Amino acid sequence: MKIIDGKVLAQNLRAEIAEKTAKLKAEKGVTPGLAVILVGENPASVSYVTAKEKACVEAGMFSLPINIPVPTDNGDATLLSRQIENKLLSTIAELNADPKIHGILVQLPLPKGVDEKKIINAIAPEKDVDGFTPVNVGRMLIGERCFLPCTPHGIIKLIEFSGMDLKGKHAVVIGRSNIVGKPVAVLLVRKETNATVTLCHTGTPDIGAFTRQADVVVVAAGRPNTLTGDMLKPGAVVIDVGVNRIPDATKPKGFRLVGDADFESCAKVASAITPVPGGVGPMTITMLLWNTLESALAAN
Ligand code: GUN
Repeated sequence: MKIIDGKVLAQNLRAEIAEKTAKLKAEKGVTPGLAVILVGENPASVSYVTAKEKACVEAGMFSLPINIPVPTDNGDATLLSRQIENKLLSTIAELNADPKIHGILVQLPLPKGVDEKKIINAIAPEKDVDGFTPVNVGRMLIGERCFLPCTPHGIIKLIEFSGMDLKGKHAVVIGRSNIVGKPVAVLLVRKETNATVTLCHTGTPDIGAFTRQADVVVVAAGRPNTLTGDMLKPGAVVIDVGVNRIPDATKPKGFRLVGDADFESCAKVASAITPVPGGVGPMTITMLLWNTLESALAAN
């Protein structure tokens, strides 16, 4: 059984990105710039955003962190949401027009009541390094050049890194989110990947019946123990996208992170599995840097 080390793959790719970034700087005097917008102080979001900013600087890029505070509650939730939306829209409009900025990322989820679709839609598609705008999602679906969404793209890279050739393999995806489940299914069925895909979700009565036929299982359900060893075919590859905080008094932060797969039982049956943390997580940020560099290259 092999642990698929996302940190190692991420490190290799980040070194390549840093090299290309330095070359762009030396040859054209251009530094790729990424604006990361965070609304409020959700602890998980703060931790993701901090990691993205740090990685950006380490790759030699320009990081512009933008924190939008949630206004004090005035008793009118609708008004509060509109205020946040207006602030976001004006910030995004400025960044869309700023030549120093090649990538714009709005950390999700946004506070309740804020129209996430409207906000994402305001990002210029050529700066949408998350690949979340309808334009980029559409381009991905029909196989046009676009920014691929970071986590799904990172997952494909991880499966390849594990040594598996996906051509003709059966991949089962658990979870149908717009950020992971649906796009990863799209990437897996592209001609160049050529896997056969089954997409399971909360409406699937017996997920195990499908995963037991799978050569690869990508689990992105947002729930611990969604995938257990008895649901796997021997030798399957498991990609665990889950990041769940479990209270644990023995840890300094009072919690530990677990994925959506029960690591212990899955590791006994699988041929390879990603750990949590240290699997998919580092790859998401790496593909974000990749897209930011691509954006800067395309603009210059
Ligand atoms: N929230 C959880 N994952 C992501 C991501 O990849 N990008 C953004 N912007 N928000 C997220």
